[in-house]
Amino acid sequence: MSTQTLTTKRALFKGKDYITTQEWTKEQIDVLLDVAVDLRRKFKNRIPHRFLQDQTVFLMFFDKSTRTRNSFEAGMTQLGGHAHFLTADVMQVSHGESPKDTGIILSRYGHGIAIRHDLIPGEGNAYMREVARWADAPVINMQCDVDHPCQTLADLMTMRDKLGHNLRGLKVAVSWAYAPSYAKPLSVPQGLIMLLPRFGIDVTLAHPPEYFLMPETMAAARENARQAGTKFEVVGSMDDAFRDADIVIPKSWGCLDTMGTRPEESLRIAKQYTNWICDERRMGFARRNSLYMHPLPADRGNEVTDAVIDGPHSVVYDEAENRLHTCKSIMALTMAEHEIEYLVETPA
Ligand code: CP
Repeated sequence: MSTQTLTTKRALFKGKDYITTQEWTKEQIDVLLDVAVDLRRKFKNRIPHRFLQDQTVFLMFFDKSTRTRNSFEAGMTQLGGHAHFLTADVMQVSHGESPKDTGIILSRYGHGIAIRHDLIPGEGNAYMREVARWADAPVINMQCDVDHPCQTLADLMTMRDKLGHNLRGLKVAVSWAYAPSYAKPLSVPQGLIMLLPRFGIDVTLAHPPEYFLMPETMAAARENARQAGTKFEVVGSMDDAFRDADIVIPKSWGCLDTMGTRPEESLRIAKQYTNWICDERRMGFARRNSLYMHPLPADRGNEVTDAVIDGPHSVVYDEAENRLHTCKSIMALTMAEHEIEYLVETPA
């Protein structure tokens, strides 16, 4: 017999920008997650949820995307609105149009602006903050140089799906891994180390010496861990990070110093560390029922072996699916005209 009961709640964060999770309280993030779970239920049961009927969101991409673009486009359609897919190279931004003018104009045409600008340290977050300063519509960060708050929200949702809401004492290993495909942004590990401690999770970060993260994100992670009474440690090997981990998230990122200007240099340095791969031997250091997560795209055969990403520990497709439900929650709660009504499972 179920010990759960459904409670109806209402929430709205109309006009609030979603640029980093740091600017959202833990209680607000809990609402984003609860609404995402309810939107998933509605999506799976084909229950209409047109909270953004006739609304428009503009999606500005300075970088490529599969999951983010398609979760926002499909999500906006399911919410009853329309998403415009825009790439910076076909916009006047490529001729130097200012973020002020872009923000004001787009917010006069629609109801939300989402931006991905993630490859050049020091640029993307500043750009979207300047758009947000002038735009009347909320600005959503689809990944910048500092944070990937849509991804980390989906990651947290996946952890709750698999392990329950009380994540205190869980150990998550966030590790650098080798990838030759491109110098990937730092924003996923940075977003994870800042967000997870706030939910009671102990985080161990591992990377080779050249692949350090932005000092301000490290400082935020340490402070968040201190306030939450959780552990945040940095180690120099993937093996050490994996030891007794409940969840491992090994992925590649570029060198902060060079990835924006000389990404090939970042890839050259990485060749020293081809042994930073998540394989079955390393999964053996983690707990028996540990989870393997990755935001994708993964460099198979380099960041991770097929045996691991296709194996029993991997939850990468559920994690990727949760990108849809979480981005719909962010759009609905920041863009809707009226409070969103949603159901939450609470103990009976
Ligand atoms: N994880 C993620 O952001 O995927 P895309 O780069 O495909 O959007």
